[in-house]
Amino acid sequence: MKRLIYLSSAVRLATRDDLARILGAARRNNRRDGVTGLLMYHDGTFLQILEGEEEAVDRVFGRIALNDLHRGIQSLPPTQVRERLFADWTMAFANPDTLCGDDDLGAKAFEAVRQDLDRIEALDKRAAIFVRTFFSTFRDLGSLTGV
Ligand SMILES: Cc1cc2nc3c(=O)[nH]c(=O)nc-3n(C[C@H](O)[C@H](O)[C@H](O)COP(=O)(O)O)c2cc1C
Repeated sequence: MKRLIYLSSAVRLATRDDLARILGAARRNNRRDGVTGLLMYHDGTFLQILEGEEEAVDRVFGRIALNDLHRGIQSLPPTQVRERLFADWTMAFANPDTLCGDDDLGAKAFEAVRQDLDRIEALDKRAAIFVRTFFSTFRDLGSLTGV
């Protein structure tokens, strides 16, 4: 299996509708294609981890790259993995105005992701570093960085 991690910038602050559309497509397609992972969005920045069979990950990443809601995709070199980090599809937001996790989009709170970090780190140090860096990039997420 292949695991791919990337960061990107929203071309404008994503609205609730933008996120709902992304999440809807991800739920529908990723389940069908056996792709699991994590999508986080905060304040114009996306972090996504995709994992699954090589061709499935390549296909979904190809569609993601074409989406003009974001730009400046920076992906890490993909890794071959035996185990999934995520059993399902997870989307986590912290958007104080419209979304704060566990809402009706089914997004998890960032706090739940933070609590999962030790497990993530044990399986993939690099993924854990990226999630931690994501939290520490935003001053308003300071409580999640554990410092
Ligand atoms: C940051 C971001 C993450 C996305 N993640 C996924 C994803 O995990 N799976 C997916 O199918 N589409 C994802 N999309 C949406 C795709 O770009 C595309 O709109 C969608 O796959 C089209 O699906 P459809 O042909 O079923 O409508 C994402 C888009 C963005 C901007």
